[in-house]
Amino acid sequence: MKTYIVGNWKLNFTVGEASIYLHKLLKALPNYRDIEVVVAPSTIALQPLSLQVDRHKMKLAAQNAFYRDYGAFTGETSFLQLRGVADYAIVGHSERRYIFGEDDKTTQKKVAAAIRNKITPILCVGETESERAFGETVDVISDQLIGGLTDVADDDLDKVVIAYEPVWAISSTKAAKLAAPDEVAEAVALIRKILVDTYGEKSAKEVPILFGGSVNPSNAGAYLTVPGVNGLLIGGSSLILSEFTDIIEVAKRVKS
Ligand code: PGA
Repeated sequence: MKTYIVGNWKLNFTVGEASIYLHKLLKALPNYRDIEVVVAPSTIALQPLSLQVDRHKMKLAAQNAFYRDYGAFTGETSFLQLRGVADYAIVGHSERRYIFGEDDKTTQKKVAAAIRNKITPILCVGETESERAFGETVDVISDQLIGGLTDVADDDLDKVVIAYEPVWAISSTKAAKLAAPDEVAEAVALIRKILVDTYGEKSAKEVPILFGGSVNPSNAGAYLTVPGVNGLLIGGSSLILSEFTDIIEVAKRVKS
């Protein structure tokens, strides 16, 4: 399986800044066949960047989209409109869940809409600090995972990527704490078990599971060597080109 290095730019960079970053990244990036490098710019930058990107080297992701293809949904962009523009879409990021009130029913529809439009959803799951403190981690991850994948047929499981992002480890969270590798290992094993129980061993084995939460060049190696982790979803550190390319180099070293 490839190693996934995904940069989530969140609400940062103008279209011009995004384009300059992409230009520099493409220049710095060797053509690594075994590493899937992806960046998720804001929606407005996706279209121009899709004309600029070299898809042999890397891919683009949407940070969000709406599950209906057309209609009276002022302000939304559909997965249908992103078809051919974005290769991946982040779905169910904790900022969507907790700032914009998205629930598992919404992520379920978004995962299905992405697959229907040939965009690979990166379904994010993860518990908050208080959910962990109350011993609800297993239930939260199970609900978010099973909820998000409800409409995914067995044949489509190979079109899905999962990201485990404990909310308390995300750098923008107040007093964010680093997740310990064994905490990540435990959550990733749980995710894999749920996938095996739902879809069978053979299909479940093929699903990439990424980790995200304050990943930077110094801790990337430790997370990438956690059993069952197939890549990283990176916020803050992906905004600094040298850090992002350093993480890609770490991935290359660790996985070869
Ligand atoms: P962070 O963000 O790397 O800045 O913690 C990760 C994310 O929110 O996807």
